[in-house]
Amino acid sequence: MNLIFFGPPGAGKGTQAKKLVADLGILHLSTGDMLREAVRQGTELGQKAKPLMDAGKLVPDDLVIGIVRERLGQPDAKAGFILDGFPRTIPQAEALERALAEQGREIDHVVSLEVPDKELIERISGRRSCPACGAVYHVVSNPPRQAGICDRDQTPLIQREDDREDKVAERLRVYAEQTSPLKAWYEKKGLLRPVQGVGAPEAIYAGIRKALGLSGR
Ligand code: AP5
Repeated sequence: MNLIFFGPPGAGKGTQAKKLVADLGILHLSTGDMLREAVRQGTELGQKAKPLMDAGKLVPDDLVIGIVRERLGQPDAKAGFILDGFPRTIPQAEALERALAEQGREIDHVVSLEVPDKELIERISGRRSCPACGAVYHVVSNPPRQAGICDRDQTPLIQREDDREDKVAERLRVYAEQTSPLKAWYEKKGLLRPVQGVGAPEAIYAGIRKALGLSGR
């Protein structure tokens, strides 16, 4: 399956994508994670992306499209993928469509996680991430066993720069202005699968599987 997980910042795209890739054995391709890795490694891409990401703005389309095209061309993307955080603009969606058509492929479903702004703000402000392995926690809904320490590798957890309160409003504004129009774009193509994104993660996951026509578990 070739899937897009769509939704505003903090909707749970990453949390849910991790569950589905583990079950289906397909590739999880998060542009946010790829860009954060580029920043960590200090590459040219990372140096261009960092100030924009820290400010809650989008990285230019050509840079993001380039890394996604390259990644989708690799052998481990052949069996299927979940795109998480991409596309985020109409030009990105058009470029994706062209890149997949060149490979004789297409998107099968766009899972749209529906979460109200108030809940998004609570989730983002409480999120803590492991800078070493990328594990994601929440101080209330999904805390690590020991406060501030990653369960997997004992690394001290951090708060993402763009998760600070003053940046969150800008990310939600950018989403409403530049990304949300993609919902109508994919709906017109008959690909949009809206899923209730509030509640226990396992219940949301069951909703996603149902929307994708996968058997319950
Ligand atoms: P990116 O990393 O993609 O951030 P995002 O879309 O803002 O999404 P988030 O990572 O904030 O949230 P999520 O939906 O994955 O939620 P999560 O599962 O973590 O992008 C960051 C930046 O990179 C962008 O601002 C931009 O600068 C740049 N960028 C990336 N892609 C780009 C592109 N295509 N074009 C241009 N620029 C791009 O969950 C959030 C929290 O809630 C966690 O703490 C989690 O534990 C908790 N939680 C999850 N589910 C539940 C639940 N059911 N109940 C309670 N809490 C929950």
